[in-house]
Amino acid sequence: MDGNVFEPRNIIVTGGCGFIGSNFVHYVVNNHPDVHVTVLDKLTYAGNPENIAGLDPGRVELVVGDICDAALVDRLVCRADAVVHYAAESHNDNSIADPAPFVRTNVEGTFTLIEACRRHGVRYHHVSTDEVYGDLALDDPARFTEETPYRPSSPYSSTKAASDMLVRAWVRTYGLAATISNCSNNYGPYQHVEKFIPRQVTNILDGRRPKLYGDGRNVRDWINTDDHSSAVWAILTRGRIGETYLVGADGERSNIDVLRAILRAMGRDEDDFDWVRDRPGHDRRYAIDPTKLRRELGWEPTHTDFASGLEQTIAWYRDHESWWRPAKEATEKKYATQGQ
Ligand code: NAD
Ligand code: TYD
Repeated sequence: MDGNVFEPRNIIVTGGCGFIGSNFVHYVVNNHPDVHVTVLDKLTYAGNPENIAGLDPGRVELVVGDICDAALVDRLVCRADAVVHYAAESHNDNSIADPAPFVRTNVEGTFTLIEACRRHGVRYHHVSTDEVYGDLALDDPARFTEETPYRPSSPYSSTKAASDMLVRAWVRTYGLAATISNCSNNYGPYQHVEKFIPRQVTNILDGRRPKLYGDGRNVRDWINTDDHSSAVWAILTRGRIGETYLVGADGERSNIDVLRAILRAMGRDEDDFDWVRDRPGHDRRYAIDPTKLRRELGWEPTHTDFASGLEQTIAWYRDHESWWRPAKEATEKKYATQGQ
């Protein structure tokens, strides 16, 4: 770090009505009282204004719109200090069924935002995923680092990789003041019921059986979404321009271990689930080495007890049925047509 601290007052959070974006908005409201947040969100099936409802309207404004709408983006960016870009089509299974919206939102949307930031000299933080690095073998001692070559496997991860490449090129060619973070799998409140943990928890709450893909041995590196938020804030305010930081909290676990932990925590037999068709091209293992973020910015995760984080997440879904219920039936119908 060069010692400079960037102190934004007006930030745009794209995708702030989605899972991780809305948790970041709560994080900023709770921890940075001088910052005003403009959420730009299209409210796709994955966006829910309830995720940020109840926050002080003097601190958080919702603009419903598309990140591909260049005129709207320009109008908002010209009066902001920074853009923190979360908006995306984010689900691998959807990207396999229909990749078109992923190319549009993830690639064209990022292009639209960085062009506006370039024009107005506005700071940009790009939120990305470890999935751009492809996967690791189960018996490989290696973890991803900032030097790992890009090798995306799915339509989702390839469009995220493309968007990362645009940002890197805009930094080098135009001097865009940008940083990039690539984070591992998040868990916590407000995650859509299509994703692994919320799907299994709400299946159990709903009297359905959990569904495990393939042989269940795929490994994901879980991080509490609050720790992701603190990492993004550290990188936005203290990270070096043009740098990539990997975000992870040493949370590697196989899917079957996570599922059995959910079943136990919810008082079920640990074999009370269905094996279902594997995802085509299913990445085997993700693992993050977060040394750079820890050493350079002194970031540390605070939610390191996965069992208690999982219990809190289960409790959140138990207490918020009215939040997840409207999306449940359609999500399961879609999975059923895919044999999952
Ligand atoms: P999400 O699907 O829950 O939310 C995405 C949000 O973006 C929604 O509110 C949606 O309405 C909005 N959106 C979609 N298209 C838009 C458009 N064209 N214009 C404006 N808004 C649009 O996603 P998430 O899981 O919260 O992921 C957020 C970001 O974090 C993504 O960029 C994703 O790649 C990245 N990420 C996710 C994870 C994870 O575990 N979920 C891990 C690492 C990185
Ligand atoms: P997911 O939440 O879709 O995240 P990602 O694909 O970005 O890692 O899935 C996490 C893991 O769980 C992944 O290995 C696929 C697996 N999975 C299941 O076994 N069953 C399910 O019902 C879902 C949705 C995912």
